[in-house]
Amino acid sequence: QPIYLSDYRPPAYRVTRTELTFDLDPDATRVKARLHLERHPEREAGAPLALDGEQLALKAIAIDGQPLEQDEYEVGEAGLVVHRVPEAFLLDTEVEIAPDGNTALSGLYRSSGMFCTQCEAEGFRRITFYPDRPDVMATFSTTVIGDAEREPVLLSNGNPVERGELPGGRHFVTWDDPHPKPSYLFALVAGDLRKVEDGFTTMSGREVTLQLWVEEENLDKTDHAMASLKRAMRWDEEAYGREYDLDRFMIVAVNDFNMGAMENKGLNIFNSAAVLTHPHTATDAAFQRVEGIVAHEYFHNWSGNRVTCRDWFQLSLKEGFTVFRDQCFSAETNSAPVKRIEDVAFFRTAQFAEDAGPTAHPVRPDHYIEIGNFYTLTIYEKGAEIVRMLSNLVGKEAFRRGSDLYFERFDGQAVTIEDFVDCMAEASGQDLDQFMLWYAQAGTPEIDAHGEYDYANAEYRLILRQRTPATPGQPDKQALHIPVRLGLVGTKSGRDLPLTLDGEMRGTDTVIHLREEEQEFLFTDVSEAPVPSLLRGFSAPVKLHFPYGREDLAFLQAHDSDGFNRWDAGQRLALLALDDLIAAHRNGVEKVMDPRVTEAFRVLLAAESDDKAVLAQMLTLPSEAYIAEQQPLVDVDAIHAARTFVKQSLALALRTDFLHVYREHQHDAPYAPEPEQIAARSLKNVALSYLMAIEDETGLELAREQFEADHNMTDVRHALTLLVHSSRGDIADPALKAFGETWAHDPLVMDQWFAIQVTRPQPDVLDRVTFLMEHPAFSLKNPNKVRALIGTFANQNPVNFHRADGAGYRLLADTVIELNRLNPEIAARLVTPLTRWARFDEARQELMKGELERIRAEELSPNVYEVVEKALA
Ligand code: ARG
Ligand code: ZN
Repeated sequence: QPIYLSDYRPPAYRVTRTELTFDLDPDATRVKARLHLERHPEREAGAPLALDGEQLALKAIAIDGQPLEQDEYEVGEAGLVVHRVPEAFLLDTEVEIAPDGNTALSGLYRSSGMFCTQCEAEGFRRITFYPDRPDVMATFSTTVIGDAEREPVLLSNGNPVERGELPGGRHFVTWDDPHPKPSYLFALVAGDLRKVEDGFTTMSGREVTLQLWVEEENLDKTDHAMASLKRAMRWDEEAYGREYDLDRFMIVAVNDFNMGAMENKGLNIFNSAAVLTHPHTATDAAFQRVEGIVAHEYFHNWSGNRVTCRDWFQLSLKEGFTVFRDQCFSAETNSAPVKRIEDVAFFRTAQFAEDAGPTAHPVRPDHYIEIGNFYTLTIYEKGAEIVRMLSNLVGKEAFRRGSDLYFERFDGQAVTIEDFVDCMAEASGQDLDQFMLWYAQAGTPEIDAHGEYDYANAEYRLILRQRTPATPGQPDKQALHIPVRLGLVGTKSGRDLPLTLDGEMRGTDTVIHLREEEQEFLFTDVSEAPVPSLLRGFSAPVKLHFPYGREDLAFLQAHDSDGFNRWDAGQRLALLALDDLIAAHRNGVEKVMDPRVTEAFRVLLAAESDDKAVLAQMLTLPSEAYIAEQQPLVDVDAIHAARTFVKQSLALALRTDFLHVYREHQHDAPYAPEPEQIAARSLKNVALSYLMAIEDETGLELAREQFEADHNMTDVRHALTLLVHSSRGDIADPALKAFGETWAHDPLVMDQWFAIQVTRPQPDVLDRVTFLMEHPAFSLKNPNKVRALIGTFANQNPVNFHRADGAGYRLLADTVIELNRLNPEIAARLVTPLTRWARFDEARQELMKGELERIRAEELSPNVYEVVEKALA
C-alpha cells in the first residue's frame, strides 16, 4: 500500500502549539499531550480529526476539557479518529508507552539505561497521537518527569524554563522551544549523563552555551566534536550568513542508534560512534567523520529545521543540500582534493550500485511504502551532487544569493524542492526547467564520448552522447542537462590549452552543457594534439566513457592540472590492467602485469613534492567493490585474485621505494587529527600495505612494531588489520587477542575489533563470524554491532560473502529474519547485498534469490517487505 506524491494535500487540521508531559518509566511511561488545533484554511470544514499513533495505549481523551464518549472516536492500528471536532480546539490525550520494549529504536526508547528519542521520519507517532507529518509546525513546551537518582539529567528542545522536586524522589524540568517545528524534530533525553560545556559568540553577538552530554567514561572523548561544532557554527555564518538561534545547543551521545545522528532542534542526538573520539580509540577517518557529521547536523538548523520539508518525498531538499554543505565545510578544513576523491570513490561504488539495482529511485521518489527505507545514498549523496551541479551552473555568487533568498522567503515553512530550485533560477536568471529532471529520473546517466583532432585546421571535435538506462518503473528516460567540466591537455606541452568554443575564448578550463541526446562541440585554434580531460572534479554524477589509450591515461595522470582527474586517470589505467588480469584468471592463463602501471607508480613514488594526501590516494588501487561495479558480471574470486596480483607485483617491483616512503613518513609527534599528520599517516600506511601484500619480512617487522608502539588508533588498527589479513597467524592471533582484551570495555573499539576480523580474505572467516555473534560484546539489538560484524562481512568481504556454497547468504538471511522482528529499519538495510543478485552468475543468483524468498515467507515489517518485494519483482 504505497503512498504517492501526487496525493499530497495539506493536513485537515494543524497544530499551533504542543504541550507535552512525560512521566518516565522504563515499562510504563505516561505521555500527556495538549494540542492546540485548528482547521487548515485550505481544507473544508467538518472533516474528522485523524491523528497518527502506533503502539499507544490510550488512557484519556478530551476536547476543550470535555472527556469524549466511546462512540465519539476510534482507535486503530495506525491512529486515532475523532468523528466531529470544532474549527479550533484543545485536544488532551494521555497514553502509556513502554520504552524498554522498544527495540526498533524509533520513538522513545532506552539505551544503556538512558531514555532517548528518534522521531525522524515517523517515530513521534510512537510517543503520542499527533499529525505526524513535517508540514505541521508547532511551538513545543515539554515537561519531563524522572527519577532524581536514575535520571538526574532531563533534556528536551529549546530552553529550560522551570525545574523542581516532586514527591517520591521524582523531579522535573520544563523546556520551551519557541521555534515552530514539525514533530520529527522533537527530542527528549533523560539519564545519568555528564556534560562538557563551552561557548560560542554568534556574528551578531549572541552568547550560545554549547553542551556535549555523554556517559561519565566518555568525558575524555569530546574535544574534537566540540571543536568541530565551533568551526561549523563559524563556517555557516561566513559561507551562508546563517546564525544560531537559541541560547543553547546540545549534543547527546547514545550507544544504540539506527543512523549516524539526528538534528533535533537545539538537542542533536548522536550515535556515539559519530561523536566520540580519542587518539587511542578513533582513527583519522573516524575523526574526520565526526567532524563532518557534527557539521551536518548543525547545518540542518537552517537547511531542515528553520526551513523544512513539506512531505517526505522532499527529503533530499534538506539532506542533499545539507550533505553538500558539510562536504564543502570538510573540504575547507581538510585537503580539498582528497575530500572530493574520497566522496566520489564512495559515490561511484555504492550509489551507482544502488542506481543500477532493484531499489533504484529518483532523488525525489514519487511513491514509497516505508519512508525509513529512503534514507539512501541516492537521496543524500546524489542529492548533494545535484546541489553541487546547481552551484557550479549558476556560479558561487548567484548560489549564495539564491540560498539567502530561500532561507528568507521560506523561514518557518515546510516547502518543496521546486521552491529551492526556483530561488536559484530567480537569483541567477537561468532556466533550470530541464535541470529539474535530475530529481525525477532514477538511474545513472552514461555519456559516450569521442573526439578527433584535425591537425590541418587546428580543431578538436568532441562528440558526447548521453543515455540513462531504464530503472524499475521508468522504462524511458529523457535527456538531462549535464554540465561537463573539461580541459584539453596538449600532448607536446603537457599543459592545458586555451579553449575557443563557437568563437568564444573560455580560458583553459570550462564547462560545456550537454542538453541533447547527442551534441558536438568544436574547439578551434587548438595548436597541438590534445588529450581531453573530461568531467573534471566529477562535475556531474554520471559514468563517462572515452576510448582512452593506456598512454593517454598515464599522460593525464602525470600532467592533468585537475587533481581529481589526475587521480581518476590513474584509476582508469589500473582498471584496464585489472580487466586483463581478471580475464586471465578466468581463462586460467598466466597473469602478466602491465608495465605502464608499475611505471606510473614508480613516477608517483619518486615525485617527493606532490601533495602527500593526494599521493596516498593515487597509490591506492580501486576497491574490489568498485572493480566489481565496472564488470558486466561480477566474479568475486577473479577480482580478488587480480587485485592481489597487482598489489604484489607493485610491491615486488617497488619494494625499496615503498620502504623508503614508509620510513620517511614515520613520525612520533603527539597525535593531532590535522591534515599534514593525516596525510603522512595515510601515505606511510599505504606503503605498509604493499609490503604486507608480499609478507615482506621487513614489512612484517614494521607492522608488528607499529602495532606494539601503540601510538594512535590509526596506526594500530592499520597494522593489526594487515597482520590479521596475512597468513601469519603466529603474529596476528596474539595481537588480536591482546587488542580485544585491552579494549573489552570500549564498545566503539570492539566494533573495530569485529570489523578487522570479518574482512579477512581467508576462507575460514564465515565460521569466525558465526563464532563472534556469540561473543559477549556482540548484540543484535545494537545497530553498531550489527553493522560492524554482519554488515562489514556482507559488504566488505566479497570472496567470503559470495562463497559458492551460499553459506554467506544464509547467514545474512538468518540475521535479517531475526532483526525483522527487533529492528525493521536495520533489517531492511542489512538485506541490501542480497538484492544485488542480478550482478552474479546463475548459480549464485539462484542461491541469493532463494534466501530472499525464505525471508519473504516470514511475517514481514513494511520495511523489509518493501525491499524484498522489489528485489524479487
Ligand atoms: N536526518 C538525519 C540526518 O541526516 C537522519 C535521520 C534518519 N532517521 C531514520 N530513522 N532513518 O542526519
Ligand atoms: Zn541529514
